[in-house]
Amino acid sequence: MANIAVIGAQWGDEGKGKIVDLLTEDADVIARCQGGHNAGHTVVINNKKFILHLVPSGILHKNKTCIIGNGVVIDPKALIAEIEGLKKEGIHVGKNLFISENAHLIMPYHVALDQECEKAKGSKKIGTTGRGIGPAYIDKVARSGIRMRDLFNSGVFKEKLKVNLSDINYLLENKYRIKKLSPEKIYADYMKYARYLSPFVADTVVLINKLMAKGKEVLFEGAQGTLLDVDHGTYPYVTSSSASVGGVCTGLGVAPTKIDGVLGVMKAYTTRVGAGPFPTELTDNLGAALRERGGEYGATTGRPRRCGWLDAVGLRHAVRINGFTGLAVTKLDVLDEAEKIKVCIAYKYKNPYPTCICSRKGKACRLQEMPHSVSVLERCEPIYKELDGWRKSTVGITRLKDLPGQARAYIDYIKNLLNVKIDLISTGQKRDEVIVLRNPIRR
Ligand code: GDP
Ligand code: IMO
Ligand code: MG
Repeated sequence: MANIAVIGAQWGDEGKGKIVDLLTEDADVIARCQGGHNAGHTVVINNKKFILHLVPSGILHKNKTCIIGNGVVIDPKALIAEIEGLKKEGIHVGKNLFISENAHLIMPYHVALDQECEKAKGSKKIGTTGRGIGPAYIDKVARSGIRMRDLFNSGVFKEKLKVNLSDINYLLENKYRIKKLSPEKIYADYMKYARYLSPFVADTVVLINKLMAKGKEVLFEGAQGTLLDVDHGTYPYVTSSSASVGGVCTGLGVAPTKIDGVLGVMKAYTTRVGAGPFPTELTDNLGAALRERGGEYGATTGRPRRCGWLDAVGLRHAVRINGFTGLAVTKLDVLDEAEKIKVCIAYKYKNPYPTCICSRKGKACRLQEMPHSVSVLERCEPIYKELDGWRKSTVGITRLKDLPGQARAYIDYIKNLLNVKIDLISTGQKRDEVIVLRNPIRR
């Protein structure tokens, strides 16, 4: 048995929620380590759809411990709404949920700044979820953030709020020309949230380490994906946290030696919400067909997701950063109708400048690795390998041998290209629509 991190290998929405739900059966503890309610993790159980934003997907199972770690940024209003929504659906949320006292709070001024800043960027906007994620992490790193623990010391909370708001209100009024925020209103609201959340708040670093010492199995539920990681993603078109495996250690206070395996979750094709380079994007009917068949609309904002072919260059980068010990390939069924399937194996880059990352000065060159400069990535064209489609339904298939030959060939191709074993192949939204080749926890 093992502690496994479940990490997105692309630009998010790979199906982490479904995979975490599936593996939760064999785990004791499910812990979120980074991000906030920008995440939208979908789990479908008996035709009922649940979308989790902050609460770990494991909450849908009985008798599991769920932890929201110090690396997560929490909008208390959104968290309370999520808990209440779960309770309405008959899901137990009580002594099974723990929230880190050191998690930073998303404040109303973070939301205002996120939205105003995006508006001001015009065509250069990142396409954030507008939830205040970036500004909350800015305050954390600037050492002016307000943490969950501060909610329980009203004097400290009031003082920090006053100091922060005096700067921010100046910006809101004078730069963005919008109404100031009232400290009294925020104070009153947050004191209400404090009363609601206080039973959940704990020293989650001690808790999770004690549970692991007792031999409990932990699933670390990543949010977003490696290509949205603030360090390793397509910066600046990224989120503001460490969405790759490093985020597990810092965001939960868990030593790297305690992580026994890293499961990379990847779609059988690629999607992206928000702005930023996407070399394999299909802006034609094929892309629209993938979007419709895959239901590719954001689980948090409802925005249509941009769709395209699989990008093995980005995936190789994710394999390297995370050291995936196995892969879960999701949404294979979405490709069922494709006549041909393409996989981007390298990029063609024509350097328009006499000096740049390659020495070929104005000539096209082949890039095997993901360039770190977004202006280079924007000019990359995919070099494709074309494979035959299978044109048969794979929906709900649970045994490898029942997959059409070409679908198996596609899976084998991915495995060989990335040199990582495939643990799971997901063939539908529902919990049991999956082929389990190796259970990463029981292994
Ligand atoms: P997450 O953010 O990584 O948890 O992914 P999302 O929930 O945002 O998006 C994944 C979407 O694909 C959700 O609507 C899932 O229900 C759905 N999904 C997951 N696995 C499969 C699959 O194998 N086939 C199909 N058709 N849908 C899937
Ligand atoms: P899950 O966990 C897909 C994207 C946004 C935007 C960028 C920055 O469901 O995979 P932010 O609000 O974080 O400052 O926005 O990151 N983004 C996601 N895209 N899935 C997510 O989460 C995302 N969370 C943020 O669309 O491009
Ligand atoms: Mg999602």
